[in-house]
Amino acid sequence: MKRKVFVSYPIAPAGLDLLQQHNIEITMHADHVPLTQPEFIRQFQNHDAVIMTLGEQVHSDVIELALRGNPPTKIFSNYGVGYNNIDVAYAKSNHIFITNTPDVLTDATADAALLLMLAVARRFRTAEHLIRAGKFQGWSTLKQLGVDLNGKTLGIVGFGRIGQAVAFRAKAFGMEIIYTKRTPLELRIGKQVSFETLLRTSDVVSVHTPLTGETVHLFSRREFEMMKPNAILINTSRGAVIDEKALVVALREGKFFGVGLDVYEQEPHVSPELFTFENVVLLPHIGAATTETRNRMSLICAENILDCFNSRTPRNLVY
Ligand code: DGY
Repeated sequence: MKRKVFVSYPIAPAGLDLLQQHNIEITMHADHVPLTQPEFIRQFQNHDAVIMTLGEQVHSDVIELALRGNPPTKIFSNYGVGYNNIDVAYAKSNHIFITNTPDVLTDATADAALLLMLAVARRFRTAEHLIRAGKFQGWSTLKQLGVDLNGKTLGIVGFGRIGQAVAFRAKAFGMEIIYTKRTPLELRIGKQVSFETLLRTSDVVSVHTPLTGETVHLFSRREFEMMKPNAILINTSRGAVIDEKALVVALREGKFFGVGLDVYEQEPHVSPELFTFENVVLLPHIGAATTETRNRMSLICAENILDCFNSRTPRNLVY
């Protein structure tokens, strides 16, 4: 009998092609408007495997339905590296595989962090707006001044693959690197410090930690108080690592040189006040959004499913 895969959102073709080459039947939600959770629940069941995104929640209710499907779902292949939307422990205890797409999106996400860093440091938003508004009056000496990244200290919170890729890029911009990581790491590119030291000494702070119980609102009023006045804060990890309300208050108080965000606490909702600050650069969660990366993510999702169908442990099992 043909194996069946449900895909909760339109994804890049590479992985879909691979599944089709293996004679697997694919049902894909082809609309770019994400499924609501009740719709996801209604549609995913009775498939051997599911490819899903950060928008769908796979908690105990979904796992129970997965177990009772005909056929039961054996694997949730998450199209992304972060899996805070999944109850991994519950899936594991019920022998359901959960996989993700590490490595392949490291470079794209690190690039996005640098994009935000440069955009904030060089006031890209205001400068671009000025020229489009027809207000460019010629080269000037003291207008639109940003700050150098060269010689500044970059504090990287979470020094996994993406954090390290950011460090290598920032080093090329002449930055000093400090970082926090739970486990010690011998990497000559930077210095491991405590979270408090990082906050107090960094000119730029870039967040690369996964969202877990421990990292929800890791950054709130207290942490903003510890940061240097005029620091730059960048987040390309998960929105809820930063307390968005407290961030708005700190911005209102003129706390930062600028802030660059690719992720938000309640996506796709963005705190409307964030739109009002000139020194805030906002991206719509595009950290990993390049054609090459999205295809590689798609391929990995498919490979994990094929591993599962061939009675192998999927290569990117998260537990
Ligand atoms: C991830 O992989 O976690 C991204 O945020 C989704 O592209």
